[in-house]
Amino acid sequence: MHNKNNITDKIFWVGTNDRKTHLFENYWPLPKGVAYNSYIIMDEKVAIVDTVERGTMETYIDNIESVLGDRKADYLIINHMEPDHSGSIRTLVERYPEMKIVGNKKTFPMLERFYGIKNNLLEVKEGDQLDLGLHKLNFYMVPMLHWPETMVTFESNNGILFSGDAFGAFGTLDGGIFDDELDLEYLEEEISRYYSNIVGKYGRPTQNALAKLSGLDLKMICATHGPIWRSHIDDIIAKYDKWSKYQTDEGCVIVYASMYGNTEKMADNIARHLVKKGIKKVRIHDSSKTHPSYIINDIFKYRGVILGSCAYNGDIFPSMETLINELEHMAIKDHVLGVFGSKSWGGGGLKRLNKFAEAIKWETIEATPEALCAPHAEDFDQCEALAEGMANRLKDLYK
Ligand code: FEO
Repeated sequence: MHNKNNITDKIFWVGTNDRKTHLFENYWPLPKGVAYNSYIIMDEKVAIVDTVERGTMETYIDNIESVLGDRKADYLIINHMEPDHSGSIRTLVERYPEMKIVGNKKTFPMLERFYGIKNNLLEVKEGDQLDLGLHKLNFYMVPMLHWPETMVTFESNNGILFSGDAFGAFGTLDGGIFDDELDLEYLEEEISRYYSNIVGKYGRPTQNALAKLSGLDLKMICATHGPIWRSHIDDIIAKYDKWSKYQTDEGCVIVYASMYGNTEKMADNIARHLVKKGIKKVRIHDSSKTHPSYIINDIFKYRGVILGSCAYNGDIFPSMETLINELEHMAIKDHVLGVFGSKSWGGGGLKRLNKFAEAIKWETIEATPEALCAPHAEDFDQCEALAEGMANRLKDLYK
């Protein structure tokens, strides 16, 4: 018999696990997969909350049928139009042609442009309530968390927030759906990576949303990805608060781009001096090997960032260029930056990193070593000066 996943005796999880897709949004790695969460509220009127990515639709339809049986859906609530959640809307509309689609004024133009759907729409505004019988759905707009049309739905009788992407996580739901059923330690990196990679650019809108939702008596948070929060609600809200304020811990992320190991030697030397000066949390990444997803996630954790690149065709090495473009684009705030590089003749790597430093407007460390061909004693002295400058600043900030 098909397993039903009860959240309450009337509310069900009908989402899907995706272990096939390698890259979320065709960019961010999914080593532990991802879940697309969708929910059904059974009442005098039946409401489905969000849908799933179309690749997992077969399972999704089975899950819906196992809950609905012969009943029809009366409403589909669209909290967010990104196709990982809207991808099955057209199929649901074909199955339940009478179903009213609930969204806000920014939802519907997207619905029409993505899927050609423009009938049976029910527009809701901030604070509106939809009565299903015993369940009352209240709608709050949370623009740019992380799309302009994003809203959340609060079921006030049970205190359940259907939060869209907010409080979501990468990682499939393996055998359980609730935070207290799952191995949160195993999912820790997937939770923070989801925030930093997907929501991270939108710190201010996240803060606005947290302020708006702070008055609600939350018993459960049902996001569109990851665990359903019921035992660790305060923890996940505290995490979102910290991350969206760009608050970081004492530590330093070193990223280098190196073709033949000379820039890498400088990175190792800098790391050694950082540790000698008492900075314990030092993370070194090779920009050609580690996807920006993981590097960005570490940058959301630690205040210090040191970037080093060899020159390449008179410019910066391509994998480092990708990373700094991403960092600039995400406009991550409040870090201390050090830069270094190497060149065999005219340079280009350090020059571009200095431009990045100007653009990102982080506090910078004065020493900027640049080795000629291979690092020599004087370059290592400069590496030490860079490490010392960073360590002193971090110690100062976290004393
Ligand atoms: Fe999970 Fe923004 O979609």
